[in-house]
Amino acid sequence: MSYRFTPMDRKVIFDVRQPVAAIVAQYRARLAAAPEDDIAGELRQVLALLPEVTPVETDNLFGDPSHKVGQFIDAALVPKTGTVEAVLAVMRPLARTLPWRYNYEPRADRPGLENRMAWAEFIGSEAPIRSPSVCLGVTLIGPHTLYPLHHHPAVELYFVISGTATWTKAGVARRLPPGSFVLHESNVVHAMETGDEPLLAAYAWTGDIDTLSTYE
Ligand SMILES: [Fe+2]
Repeated sequence: MSYRFTPMDRKVIFDVRQPVAAIVAQYRARLAAAPEDDIAGELRQVLALLPEVTPVETDNLFGDPSHKVGQFIDAALVPKTGTVEAVLAVMRPLARTLPWRYNYEPRADRPGLENRMAWAEFIGSEAPIRSPSVCLGVTLIGPHTLYPLHHHPAVELYFVISGTATWTKAGVARRLPPGSFVLHESNVVHAMETGDEPLLAAYAWTGDIDTLSTYE
């Protein structure tokens, strides 16, 4: 499957040091607060694998800054009750340059879904900051949108930055506010559904990061 790129006619500087540092600070705070559970175990794994993050000069962002999902980023970055301002503040200057991509096959039963959700990857095997073993990025889902049931072999750890949505894992649905961590074990079936607010959440993948996610 191919990714959607926007070819550029000049090199750009992709500098995500501040967002990555802000997300890592949240990881460390969660580890300090609750060091013994499954989420803490995966946080340690992610932190051990993260490469050094430096500005990258590139003519290929591995994504599309003009993707239609960008219509929802401003609402996601507005401070609201519980939003994680330390991360939002460093995301705002990047809002127009995030390299969005959506690489599921189209679904006849969900027309337009590819315009309402996407993710922007900072670190990964096909991201401006290369790693063969860990991905880190953000997922953005517009309001009143279902990210349908899906699974992937990678272990996935989400951190909710903005938006309260319904998160379903293995048939159990929970409404989770910003600040929440969600662990999706390898190949567990999961989904997210937004209400009035868009959802912005940081994700990290470990394990088999090269096999794409598939819908059920
Ligand atoms: Fe997932």
